Amino acid sequence: QVGRVADELGYNAYVVGGFVRDLFLRHENLDIDLVIEGDAVTFARHYASRFQNVRVRVFQKFKTAVIIYPDDFKVDVATARTEYYETPGALPIVERSSLKMDLYRRDFTINTLAVKLNERHFGILIDYFGAQRDLKDGRISVLHNLSFVEDPSRVFRAIRFEQRFGFKITKLTANLIENAGRINFFDRLSGTRLFSELKLILMEENPIPAISRLAEFDLLKFIHPMLRYDANTTWLLDQIRGVLSWHDLLFLEDSYERWYVYFLGLIEPLKEEQLLELTRRLNMQTKFAETLLWAKGAADHTLFRLYQRENPSPKEIYYLLHELSTEFLLYMMAKTRREGSKKAISLFITQLRNVRPHLAGKDLLDMGYEPGPRYKRILQHLLDAHLDGQVQTKEDEIASVLR
Ligand code: CTP
Repeated sequence: QVGRVADELGYNAYVVGGFVRDLFLRHENLDIDLVIEGDAVTFARHYASRFQNVRVRVFQKFKTAVIIYPDDFKVDVATARTEYYETPGALPIVERSSLKMDLYRRDFTINTLAVKLNERHFGILIDYFGAQRDLKDGRISVLHNLSFVEDPSRVFRAIRFEQRFGFKITKLTANLIENAGRINFFDRLSGTRLFSELKLILMEENPIPAISRLAEFDLLKFIHPMLRYDANTTWLLDQIRGVLSWHDLLFLEDSYERWYVYFLGLIEPLKEEQLLELTRRLNMQTKFAETLLWAKGAADHTLFRLYQRENPSPKEIYYLLHELSTEFLLYMMAKTRREGSKKAISLFITQLRNVRPHLAGKDLLDMGYEPGPRYKRILQHLLDAHLDGQVQTKEDEIASVLR
């Protein structure tokens, strides 16, 4: 259908980039990017008009569109373009051009494959820049020497792809990365972009080799000068990996952000003031930054208090940990070298945090209690009685309330 619509408009349509790369590598990839030699917006509108329930979102300024299918599946459509960057790191200025120019402005050779979709040439593979060769040989290589000048975030992408696919950054590209570090291109990279690239690295299945590679290229200092990749960091990140697989094997209901736990591991050496600098450098949203600062302090403090307790009771464990999110709990569990503290946190995650009284406000009403602040006190008392093991069943609770 894409090919037919393109034919009708006299355009050429191609599927390009990561999708084709991953087809070649037999990796799953559901992000489809189309490039149109013609006008992507006209194409997308024309295409959508053919189907019921297919919508388009248009970004006229960038001459791009998103086709949205009823099941929310999305396809990005871009006009083949040459991008000019007025200043490095700024948003590009877009102009129409041919597929080859469009592919040339991209990050790495392995991302430059295209498959034509027009009916007459459907399925023809286009490889202008040796992408198949580099995919076979496992090479991450830029297309030209100014690639990182145009977009310093590509340095992080290079490392992410290298580790994800088990490829090798070529000598020339490695030199350009070192050069980017020496001249510090990263000052021009906005905090938001830097953070989002770091996040993408941490979201990889196993981000540790990529973090180690960032350190090899001496790039961690651009995130914060005090970040280290020393024996402590490697130990902690390995522990985190272990704790995350432990948690995932439990099939608990609570969802959490894996990348965030690794992030906490990476920034572990930072003191409060440095953490504050980090939140500014990465341009974190106020609420996110506040939570990070508060919870990091609370987590370290709580670990210390757990450390002091020889044999904390379930109730003590509950009140020490109940304000912390799963990410921080997992981070603490990984960080502590004390078996007793590990056990306490795991008990909290698997059991204590789910403890709730059977009785609710409605039951108290049925029992003849007037609604009011007293309810909160009673329910709190019941929770404590549960944690202390004094009550278990609903009947126990009723008896306890009546007492
Ligand atoms: N691209 C680029 N420079 C960037 C970001 C992206 O040249 N800084 C190009 C890449 O060639 C890529 C395409 O834009 O193929 C789409 O980007 P994205 O969806 O981020 O890349 P994928 O290759 O699909 O990566 P992932 O598998 O991580 O989604």
